[in-house]
Amino acid sequence: GLMSDLLGFPKMEKKLASLLAIDHVLIVPGDSDEQPPVLKRLGQLLNNTLSLLLPDGRNVIAAMGGTTMAAVAKEFTPQLARQRQLLFVPARGGVGELVDIQANAICSQMAQNTGGEHRSLYVPENVSERTYEPLLKEPSIKPVLDLISHANVVIHSIGEAMTMASRRQMSDDVIAELEQKQAVAEAFGYFFDETGQVVYKIPRIGLQIRDLNDIPYVFAVAAGAKKATAIRAYMHNAPHQTWFITDESAANSLLKGA
Ligand code: F6P
Repeated sequence: GLMSDLLGFPKMEKKLASLLAIDHVLIVPGDSDEQPPVLKRLGQLLNNTLSLLLPDGRNVIAAMGGTTMAAVAKEFTPQLARQRQLLFVPARGGVGELVDIQANAICSQMAQNTGGEHRSLYVPENVSERTYEPLLKEPSIKPVLDLISHANVVIHSIGEAMTMASRRQMSDDVIAELEQKQAVAEAFGYFFDETGQVVYKIPRIGLQIRDLNDIPYVFAVAAGAKKATAIRAYMHNAPHQTWFITDESAANSLLKGA
């Protein structure tokens, strides 16, 4: 309703933050599974929150890929770059997903909408350790990895494990392993079971989950009731300073399952 549009859901936000053991939750009205405009609201809320929170001067913002990230990137505005120099970098190599939802494309969109800069990381999603070791030293890759390691902001989403495994065309063997280990969530190339245990990890280049602890501004954007189990599982690993931006339907479902 109108009141919740104006005021948000302060009680629910507090309850959910304490349930997930993170510092901040922000909820937009509606259900993004049913109403696509809800994703737009998530993006606007993210843009406004970043505009209020980020320090003046230089900010290095590491962003992940996915359809949620692609939708929120569209809502970024030049307001965000007022008093700031923004540099968007892909948090991890993700070439292999559809081009429009790769982190490279999302960084480019965010930079274009704000008037900031961006860098690309041309590294496949799925590479063996032997292949990526020498890549780390490549002149087109190393500077971007150095930037990622200095990011003060991370923006990411959370996906359902099996949805992500098939979207990435992971092998039947890996899919069987994920099923056997009861993976329910994916973020940053890590797969988690319901208790938050990492049960599988894609050897990708870039940000690792343990790096999150040292990053002052971490934003997790994920919505829709069907993601509730995945969100819950991932949040066992989320650093406390996380801002979780979600919709009413995911929030209700998380609180009901509590
Ligand atoms: O593949 C990048 C990624 O950010 C994953 O880490 C995450 O699980 C997924 O995309 C989320 O995708 P979507 O927003 O399309 O659900």
